[in-house]
Amino acid sequence: MGSTPTFDLAGLISRHSPGHALAREFYTDPHIFERDMDRIILRHWFCAAHASSVPRPGDFLVVDLGAESVIIIRTQDDEIRALLNVCRHRGSRICTAQSGKASAGRLTCPYHAWTYDLNGRLVAARQMPEPFDRDRLGLKSLAVRVVGGLIFATFAERPLDFAPAEGALSQTARVHGWDKAKVAHREMYSIKANWKLAIENYMECYHCQPAHPEFSKRHVYARPAKQGEQLEQAGRRRAEALGIFIEDVDQYGCAAKSGSESVSVFRSALSNGVASATPDGQPIARLMGDFSGHDGNSTYFDIGPLSDFLAYADHGVIYRFIPRAVQHTEMEVMWLVHEDAVQGQDYDVERLVWLWHTTSAEDKKIVELNQAGVNSRFFEPGPYSLQEPYARRFVDWYLNELAAQ
Ligand code: FES
Ligand SMILES: [Fe+2]
Repeated sequence: MGSTPTFDLAGLISRHSPGHALAREFYTDPHIFERDMDRIILRHWFCAAHASSVPRPGDFLVVDLGAESVIIIRTQDDEIRALLNVCRHRGSRICTAQSGKASAGRLTCPYHAWTYDLNGRLVAARQMPEPFDRDRLGLKSLAVRVVGGLIFATFAERPLDFAPAEGALSQTARVHGWDKAKVAHREMYSIKANWKLAIENYMECYHCQPAHPEFSKRHVYARPAKQGEQLEQAGRRRAEALGIFIEDVDQYGCAAKSGSESVSVFRSALSNGVASATPDGQPIARLMGDFSGHDGNSTYFDIGPLSDFLAYADHGVIYRFIPRAVQHTEMEVMWLVHEDAVQGQDYDVERLVWLWHTTSAEDKKIVELNQAGVNSRFFEPGPYSLQEPYARRFVDWYLNELAAQ
């Protein structure tokens, strides 16, 4: 699979200057985008949805990645499956709606009506010549793991070991109560930029003070490490006082070396007097998981290259990055609240989404400006700052992944 590059990819990788952004071609060349899809995106685990999005048997959701489309569906046995949305007859898409319920427990192709059950088994196909082996013609399926209420899937035939990610994630998600949560709101941001620019931007907070004034007022992470030190210590003490413990984990970069999926988890304090990501810093919804009070911290966790999460004591945010084309990335943002929280009573959607809608709209703008500048034939990658270690780590990891195999 994949196209033949018109250039020397190995040479391009070897010319990378450590501590610097990537060369222009990595963000502009359609051949490299194809490589990214084959070698990285389709090989890693990605978060497809929160399990509450498919609460009952037959409920489905369609999620896309590049040109691929996947049906996330709950079976009669209450299991979650990920089926390729490609008919085994002549390849039509089967589910055309973004979400819905399989009528009578069946998925029927709109083209010639081949019909599949919720496990993807072919159960009906008209006028096929004998012998006809239905068992061989079920929908292709992806490996799936559900951890802490989050559905992960991978296109890889031999998936990367998910155990390290699963271990860290199940502890973090459990403390935050993400398995007893529901999606209160979702928003899709279409970004005219390469997926790596969107991820690098997500990975660093050097841009936070100039680009995200509201985020920066509330989050210590926006400050240089030295400046934020005392506030971070105070945040840790508040968490300890409440008995909240979440382990820092940093196994990003392990995938190329060990065959495991990458994971990182870290906590950072909110500014003094800030309980949650709201306009007035006051709580937004009922407390989740192990929290018996607001500890004035937020937890960041990342799994694989495309899935990032942020948890507060009373709500959570899921980011799904969806590479679509060399200069087109979608970012889906989902806001989580306690599964029993009632809209209008326990939380107000506008207040809930305010900070991360504002911040995501700002990010869309700066990432698109970044792509526009990188498109210049005179662009030369500059050095990363002290406040961009994770962006640097991502780029190193990316090049390793691309060079491996
Ligand atoms: S392509 Fe689906 S039934 Fe023909
Ligand atoms: Fe940002």
